[in-house]
Amino acid sequence: MKDYFFQDSVGKPMDRVDGRQKVTGAAKYSAEYELPNMTHAVLVGSIIAKGRIKSMDTKKAENAPGVLAVLYHQNAPKVPGYVQAAHPSEPKPVGQPLRAFYDDKVYFNGQPVAVVVADTLERAMYAAHLVKVTYEEEKHATDFTKNVSKAFLPTAAQRNPKHPLNDYVRGKKDAYKTADIKIEQEYVIPTEVHNPMELQSIVAHWEANDKLTVYDKTQAVIGTQNAFAKDWDIPVENVKVIATFVGGAFGNGLHTWPHETAAIMAAKKVNRPVKLVLTREQMFTMVGYRPHAWQKVGMSATPDGKITAITHEAIGQTSSYEEFTESTLQQTRMMYTSPNVTTRYRILPLDVSTPIWMRGPGEATGAFALESALDEMAHVIGMDPLEFRMRNHTDRDPEKDLPWSTKYLKEAMQMGAERIGWSKRPNIPGTLKNGEWLVGYGMGVGTFGANRGRAKVRAVLHDDGTVVLQCATTDIGPGTGTAMVQIAAQNLGLAPEKIIFELGSSLYPPSPSQGGSATVASVGSAVHAACKALQQRLATLVADNDAGFKGATADKLTFDNGYLSLAATPAARVSFADVLKRQKLKEIEVTEESKPGDERTKYSMYSYSVHFAEVHVHPLTGQIKVAKIVSCADAGTIVNTKTAGNQMIGGAVGGIGMALTEGTVMDHRFGRYVTKDLAEYHVPVHADAPAIDVFFVNKPDLINNPNGTKGIGEIAIIGVAPAIANAVFNATGKRIRELPITPDKLI
Ligand code: MOS
Repeated sequence: MKDYFFQDSVGKPMDRVDGRQKVTGAAKYSAEYELPNMTHAVLVGSIIAKGRIKSMDTKKAENAPGVLAVLYHQNAPKVPGYVQAAHPSEPKPVGQPLRAFYDDKVYFNGQPVAVVVADTLERAMYAAHLVKVTYEEEKHATDFTKNVSKAFLPTAAQRNPKHPLNDYVRGKKDAYKTADIKIEQEYVIPTEVHNPMELQSIVAHWEANDKLTVYDKTQAVIGTQNAFAKDWDIPVENVKVIATFVGGAFGNGLHTWPHETAAIMAAKKVNRPVKLVLTREQMFTMVGYRPHAWQKVGMSATPDGKITAITHEAIGQTSSYEEFTESTLQQTRMMYTSPNVTTRYRILPLDVSTPIWMRGPGEATGAFALESALDEMAHVIGMDPLEFRMRNHTDRDPEKDLPWSTKYLKEAMQMGAERIGWSKRPNIPGTLKNGEWLVGYGMGVGTFGANRGRAKVRAVLHDDGTVVLQCATTDIGPGTGTAMVQIAAQNLGLAPEKIIFELGSSLYPPSPSQGGSATVASVGSAVHAACKALQQRLATLVADNDAGFKGATADKLTFDNGYLSLAATPAARVSFADVLKRQKLKEIEVTEESKPGDERTKYSMYSYSVHFAEVHVHPLTGQIKVAKIVSCADAGTIVNTKTAGNQMIGGAVGGIGMALTEGTVMDHRFGRYVTKDLAEYHVPVHADAPAIDVFFVNKPDLINNPNGTKGIGEIAIIGVAPAIANAVFNATGKRIRELPITPDKLI
């Protein structure tokens, strides 16, 4: 392994380069930007779920103190292009993203119908309450279960027989039905909401009639820049997007949303900068969510534990105006060796806002059903669920019929089983006790595509020996800048302290959105390329100008700690800074692009995780305590064991939420959430989060990219919820197939 590892820097648990800024409050988030003449905008949301705006009385609001404008569909500045939505998925979902104040139609409860702009936030809030809207209400449908018969195959799949959302059959269709040993169960997850700490916010500022600057909470700097340029029909370079710090985002920043357009419209109208911060309640309806999903798994196996067939069906919720889809069934098609696999995916439009990916997106939903079903089947045949998974392990992708680039799932499973103490798991559920508490163990496996996109990085070496790298990626929390500094240090041969990585601005070279667990693979590869290009430039400079280095090429030189030397002539050693100084150069600059090649036609690439949970359940109260979680991942080279570990811990906490506490509840009489703040929508708190131990296989995937990395963000949560649900079954003998597993479901 040592050959591949760049042990000087990559692999170390380096502290975050921006950690001090974050904990001291020096880090500036979008809502914290103050511009001269700032104004404040507050959105008014619809109180009906479907219908039309009949009348809008804004007089009182307009006359309230400090109010500068009240905008709605009849007086809002026209958006000439109106594409909206920096949607990274291809093909894009069928439908039209919601356009702010476009017409009188209401598609969901809470839809923005007006925006009030005032000179202070308080005055804007006050005036927003004075806007009187009357509606012509139509009958709405928001109840998933009652409307499930209206589910259909997504239009994109209907149009294209090769679309991955089409029904998939390997071997014989629904083969489990005729088998001797089989299970067939339904699984449900409710709508979940991202709820990052930082509220979605934007400061919009028209610097000229055709020149827009936004300080915006987004995961996609370039995507947002392109979307606004098209919306407003102005050159891309006239739109500046700044997102230097992002206070958590789990998919809610992968899209541009109506509140951003509302702020930009308002700034145009009042000709002053506008700040708009969503309320926590608005975060439930305006920036996407994990859609409610129904799933059914049928599975058959031989008595000795070979899966013979799986059928996995899923129906996910979407809105009436857009067809949101996700990869709920992907894991089922490739994870286990089964000769017969059938998957069927459908979507159900309701009078709600459009969902979006939420960490681990469809795969986390799908894994809950698949990995619960695995546990159920293992129980039926009386086999240890770890052994059952090992027996159905596959060393080749059965879906694509390709070899894996790398797959160390077995190693991860063994590692985790040891660390959790899997041998303590009782074979008969409900038989292990700790005082009054029932004790159980469960596991769940996760996978997610080891994605990589095209990214560009600029690197400037200064004559003081420091390097500044720039890329328009964001850091939504994983520590992107830190990882990039480590990759640069390694590939340049320079101490991390001498390297600065700047991100979060559209002025920097382009990067994909920070999503799909792809940033380190995409941007890290461009950092690698930029560093190698700098080394080339240094090599050329010394070879051309320094007798001791005559004829030297980069591959013959050693680059170490800011010096380059020629191994054959140890006397020939010079610092990077001196190479520049001797040529009277202030700096040298390179910009390099990196993109995947054709390796994906030859290999199938995934990251893997396995999560083990120990739970304690009180038989009288139904209270569940997660006593321990051990998460192990095969995510290629681990650039920073500390920040990567942080991500895994965060994902595990998200998984505890998914399993035990999170879920929205809607009052279908109004199509409105009753869970609309963090008092009602329960994310796990410290008291809910036990010791979480993280281990990495840490073997590089050099087929994927030159740094050998695979993504972590999604696999951190995928598989956690079923691990906990399976542990609850092991503790109690009760199988809960509808999340979250609240105490009432156990007693
Ligand atoms: Mo993630 S769901 O790609 O933010």
